[in-house]
Amino acid sequence: MPRRGGPIEKRSIPNVKKILAVASGKGGVGKSTVAVNLAFSLALKHHEQSNQRVRVGILDLDIFGPSVPTLMGLQNNDEPELTSSGALLPVINHGLPTMSMGYLLPKSGEDGSRADAAVVWRGLMVQKAVQQLLFDVDWRHDAQGPGLDILVIDMPPGTGDVPLTLGQLVNVDGAVIVSTPQDVALADVRRGISMFRKVLVPITGTILNEAYFVCSGCSAPHQLFGSPDAFRTTAHKLGVDVLGELPLVKGVSTGGDNGIPYALSCNDQQKEEDGAGGAVWRNVMADAATKVYSKLFKDMPPH
Ligand SMILES: Nc1ncnc2c1ncn2[C@@H]1O[C@H](COP(=O)(O)OP(=O)(O)OP(=O)(O)O)[C@@H](O)[C@H]1O
Ligand SMILES: [Mg+2]
Repeated sequence: MPRRGGPIEKRSIPNVKKILAVASGKGGVGKSTVAVNLAFSLALKHHEQSNQRVRVGILDLDIFGPSVPTLMGLQNNDEPELTSSGALLPVINHGLPTMSMGYLLPKSGEDGSRADAAVVWRGLMVQKAVQQLLFDVDWRHDAQGPGLDILVIDMPPGTGDVPLTLGQLVNVDGAVIVSTPQDVALADVRRGISMFRKVLVPITGTILNEAYFVCSGCSAPHQLFGSPDAFRTTAHKLGVDVLGELPLVKGVSTGGDNGIPYALSCNDQQKEEDGAGGAVWRNVMADAATKVYSKLFKDMPPH
């Protein structure tokens, strides 16, 4: 807990080299989808010097509406195991370790799922849960194993207690702000960026999600939620890089529902169904991961 009176001392997360938050000022813009897919796209990369795979994990800090368990196909998983010293062990699927409040909720549904479980805490309890998820997870593969190169954090919507607690307690290396082209989402982007800047978290860049749709009939992009110009201008004015503009793709959504992130599901049937839009989405996401990797590892000195 922060000490009364004195400055709050930021800590690092044990066994994690770089911490990247994926956030937005507004709900439902695709943060969790981007966070999970960005994590996999980063995990598909190799370090330039050692040629070893980049080790990535995902932490879901959305205490009230965790989506990582579903997006990872882990919603019916048993509670995480504990180490002998009482730390939580990550739950792994598709080779990626994850932790979420969703794994800790009781299975209350008739089908043994957590679909109906709801968190009804506030204030200090939320802060306590956030601290536990931040500092009491053992991200090493085993007791001797290496930790993570990058921990991607899926943030809850808005600029409430959780992002503030994160920014105040932890040395966060970067934040990716997700937005859609609508004006109201853009106002929230400005709020999100200013909040992270207040707690001295560097903004890695922004991603415009659902920027357009490519139908199978013609290959022209349809800007369903308006032109991307306002987004680009806002990013430019705020001095924030645009990491990519992702199209709206059916498979991205169904992949999420089925627990198979789109960055991984590359079969021929999917490719045919999603056509040009799906291919563009994959390229943009891979490119965004490359930019994030260089910003985290090449442009920034270690703490
Ligand atoms: N590029 C995309 N193409 C198609 N569907 C998408 C895309 N991005 C997100 N979605 C869908 O939009 C919905 C909302 O996405 P998601 O849950 O990732 O948003 P969020 O910002 O994390 O929401 P919340 O604020 O509730 O945490 C999901 O059904 C997801 O599958
Ligand atoms: Mg979410």
